[in-house]
Amino acid sequence: MGGIIWCVLPPHTMDFSPLMPKSDCVAVWYSESGRNSFHNPRAIMTILSDWLAAQSVDPKLTSVMMTMANASIEIAAVLRHAAITGQTRLAGHTNVQGEAQKALDVISNDIIANHIEKNPEISILVSEELNEAVHIKNQGAYLVATDPLDGSSNLDVNVTVGTIFSILDARKGLLQPGSAQLGAGYAAYGPATSLVITFGPSAAAFTLDDQGVFVLTAEKLNIPVASAEYAINMARERLWDAATMGYVAENVAGETGPAGKRYNMRWVGSMVADVHRILMRGGIFMYPLDSENAAKGGRLRLLYEGNPMALLVAAAGGRSTTGRQSVLDVVPTNIHQRVPVVLGSADEVKRVEAWYGRE
Ligand code: AHG
Ligand code: MN
Ligand code: MN
Repeated sequence: MGGIIWCVLPPHTMDFSPLMPKSDCVAVWYSESGRNSFHNPRAIMTILSDWLAAQSVDPKLTSVMMTMANASIEIAAVLRHAAITGQTRLAGHTNVQGEAQKALDVISNDIIANHIEKNPEISILVSEELNEAVHIKNQGAYLVATDPLDGSSNLDVNVTVGTIFSILDARKGLLQPGSAQLGAGYAAYGPATSLVITFGPSAAAFTLDDQGVFVLTAEKLNIPVASAEYAINMARERLWDAATMGYVAENVAGETGPAGKRYNMRWVGSMVADVHRILMRGGIFMYPLDSENAAKGGRLRLLYEGNPMALLVAAAGGRSTTGRQSVLDVVPTNIHQRVPVVLGSADEVKRVEAWYGRE
């Protein structure tokens, strides 16, 4: 059912227009029941810019968050029409990691670079799609590391993909552990576009409305400690180490095994979609070291996949590990470094850690 968005204007506003930005409203709410709702407003809405302004965080840092949010709004618009414009095709070249780039990987990277260029607070861009870190300008205290389009192999089948990003102090260099992150987030481009962000202590979720404004939909995400859902690429089972093998075998055994409860397996194959599910309702996501990816250090990238997701999960009360240490404690040796990633509900991650502890 459709609804109505109510906007309360400041006193003496003479030039009301339906296209007026919501930031001009002194209060906004949404109601499903139409005009009668005036007597029964369903909820007061908070928009991203207002929420950011209310955080006790340096406004320069919140401007970086806004820049990434604005870039994601533009990427979402491109993705909506990508199948029609034929942009889901391969770009015809590979990135520094030897992976085939899709046209949209390159387009998303360019959109982010354009937005970052306009923000004087950001001096350095690290991207999955760029071989080297780009020193955009001399001034600016922040570095953004990003996976502009995560899960791009899912683009041709219209499955949720996303943009992941990490914010660091640019003066501290390129190779900082995840624990040094000043903020992180992702946009998930699904049936709705979600933006999930953190400055460390908590994680909040926003949903993009029809007017292109992010509206707060969950102020403090809380990953349940216990869960019965796991996400792993099962096709790699023969390559797994003993710890992964042992943990997953216990889950598969369900109520007849030592876990004593039945598990479900869920795997989208876009990290953003799999981690979004976990932030919303719990579970565990695993891309462990295996005999094939061990030479590269794992599958996922530390700076712009493992670290931002690990910070978000920690902010929501979850846990992360490489198997040996918290993902957030790994000190990178290069910007495109890969890392094993296990994250999600604390009890499940602890079970995986216990398996690694037995080795
Ligand atoms: P990207 O599209 O940015 O290269 O990342 C894809 C990642 C991640 O989204 C997902 O969890 C993982 O790759 C899936 O990889 P496999 O299909 O190779 O298992
Ligand atoms: Mn990715
Ligand atoms: Mn990517």
